[in-house]
Amino acid sequence: MDNKWWKKSVIYQIYPKTFQDTNGDGIGDIPGIIAHLDYLEELGIDAIWLSPVYCSPQEDNGYDISDYQDIDPIFGSLNDMDRLIAEAKKHHIRIIMDLVLNHTSDEHFWFQEALKGKDNPYHDYYVWRDGVEGCPPNDLTASFGGSIWQWVPELGQYYMHQFSTKQPDLNWSNPKLRQALYDMINWWIDRGIEGFRLDVIDHVGKVPDEKIMVNGPKLHDYIREMSASTFGKAGLVSVGETWSATPETALLYSNPDGSEMSMVFQFEHICLDQDPDGTKWDLRPLPLLQFKEVMNKWQTELHGKGWNSLFWDNHDLPRIVSRWGNDSEEYREVSAKMLATLLHGMEGTPYVYQGEELGMTNIPLPSSIDAYKDVETMHAYRVLKARGWSEEKILQSLCAKCRDNARTPMQWNDGPQAGFTTGTPWMPVIPNYTTINAASQVHDEDSVFSYYKKLIHLRKETPVIVDGAFEMLLPEDEEIFAYRRTDDSQTLTVICNFYGNERRIDADSLVPKGSRLLLSNYKDMEEADLLRPYEARMYLK
Ligand code: GLC
Ligand code: CA
Repeated sequence: MDNKWWKKSVIYQIYPKTFQDTNGDGIGDIPGIIAHLDYLEELGIDAIWLSPVYCSPQEDNGYDISDYQDIDPIFGSLNDMDRLIAEAKKHHIRIIMDLVLNHTSDEHFWFQEALKGKDNPYHDYYVWRDGVEGCPPNDLTASFGGSIWQWVPELGQYYMHQFSTKQPDLNWSNPKLRQALYDMINWWIDRGIEGFRLDVIDHVGKVPDEKIMVNGPKLHDYIREMSASTFGKAGLVSVGETWSATPETALLYSNPDGSEMSMVFQFEHICLDQDPDGTKWDLRPLPLLQFKEVMNKWQTELHGKGWNSLFWDNHDLPRIVSRWGNDSEEYREVSAKMLATLLHGMEGTPYVYQGEELGMTNIPLPSSIDAYKDVETMHAYRVLKARGWSEEKILQSLCAKCRDNARTPMQWNDGPQAGFTTGTPWMPVIPNYTTINAASQVHDEDSVFSYYKKLIHLRKETPVIVDGAFEMLLPEDEEIFAYRRTDDSQTLTVICNFYGNERRIDADSLVPKGSRLLLSNYKDMEEADLLRPYEARMYLK
């Protein structure tokens, strides 16, 4: 049954640029990951999802790949990568790589060849349209600014790019391109990689002439072909990034027959704290009732028929404790633990993003845009300026949501640069590293780190957490998130006070008689019917 190991596992995401620098250049590297395998084993995670370490001009921090089969020198060498795979294995940790297959860097050999002429064998690896300058084929806009069409005068053609101009889209309708990608994936499998995260995979079947960017008509055919030729055939774990997923499509993606992927990241809950008619920069408070409905829907609709991934954070999202918890000194730890309890009691594979296990926070409100580096953030700044927003309002939005919040150096200790580098870090360290850091938490039984460690172990020891049926409790309650998981022999009850006020509950009606308290983010229970600010409890019967 080992082929479904990921159903009982927790996966840890590493953003290599800010994890640990070992040579003083201010950029995290692969030897830095190897240096912390003991820490990760202590936390209890089963696999690392490694954000891209391939050769890249770093326009989008590695999500613009110029060589899929080599490691960027800023991160180390192929030899370091082989060493990471081997050393991780000794720590019982598998390595999952990030596959960016919708586009490459414009500096990739394929694209450089494609630019040489319409007859070049690589030309058709990308998406081109004939035209005249100034009249792009349509008005679709790219995620990081401008039209999706970039004019190339030498060819009299436009190429398509859904992200930056330096990320030309690959043409998945070309079987040769698909085969080249599969060969590359198999090359990594042969090196010992045990799974893949598939970047914006719902985009690969695009049909630009019909203005279809996601969920193209051939999408699932392509994914099935890829799976059968690569990770599916090898029985490895795979997780797709699919911002467009609904429970209906997720049942296809995560079909238990293994024909597509193991699971997908869906983002319905992640998009709830924004104006439904606006963008992610149009902030609104999280509507708790709707949030509960969405989580309930995903838990119940995939149960027994598909598989969820569970996450709060990743390298594109702000820190959860600042977002839906409370990052004040008083409530930071307790609210971080509450959010962890809420998520880790659910069905699916939990993902922990580096630093989440320490309760790392967002970057404090900056005084100028210079605090940020991310290509998406810079684009948003220009767009919001053009909308007439004040500098203050723009910075407030960016502070709440921008991707750089997740990309500050990992806070290892209270020494210079939080122990991340002996040089100057490429992104500044958040000043609160003096109190929030790994060194102070690993041996502290009450720390956020120790709490995550307990949750990770509980999943391994408690079958009902792995596949019990989900039932929302108190669905109409506007402050409490409570649910129950049941299988033939166990009942798990999770009760979370989502906010900073005290709340009375009727514990007897929520918690089955004979249950015992498995875990709580407060030391002693004062009164079963009283929930203190952000109090979370997990009971098992
Ligand atoms: C995904 C990645 C993101 C990247 C984008 C383009 O959303 O997570 O970081 O910018 O794809 O590759
Ligand atoms: Ca380095």
